[in-house]
Amino acid sequence: MFATSDLTKLPKPELYRELASQISVLIQNETDPVANMANVAALIFHSVAKLNWVGFYLLKGGELVLGPFQGPPACVRIAFGRGVVGTAAEKRTTIRVADVNQFPGHIACDTASKSEIVVPLVSDDSHLLGVLDVDSPELDRFDAEDETGLRAIGKIISAKL
Ligand code: SME
Repeated sequence: MFATSDLTKLPKPELYRELASQISVLIQNETDPVANMANVAALIFHSVAKLNWVGFYLLKGGELVLGPFQGPPACVRIAFGRGVVGTAAEKRTTIRVADVNQFPGHIACDTASKSEIVVPLVSDDSHLLGVLDVDSPELDRFDAEDETGLRAIGKIISAKL
């Protein structure tokens, strides 16, 4: 098994630097996208504090379909433009929501989720591949450092999808 150290106590910039480097190593020799997404979800879930769900939604036939994740079972299909996931995909922009109950159209797959960040995944040739969705049971859990760190991770995994 891949040995991971406890990163949860590191300051955020270091945490995300370390995480990005562990993810690069973990996926570098594997070409299977599902295996790589599964390991990325697991690594984020177990390295970043105060999360209740981490996973992928992949663009398939014009909608976002659940991919590998960690956490409780989640909504399977999300329409393009709906919820935080569908909006981030449609706008191709990272969306950080401090209080999901204030986000118009938020899809409550798990009522424990209070804040959320969704990072679009885009291929080298500018095709939307899907999103990385990270949820927290705490309000306002994600700041600009989390966004920078998770976007960097999004880039690394996008190159392997
Ligand atoms: N809350 C998301 C749906 C996905 S779950 O959080 C896993 C949304 O509003 O798009």
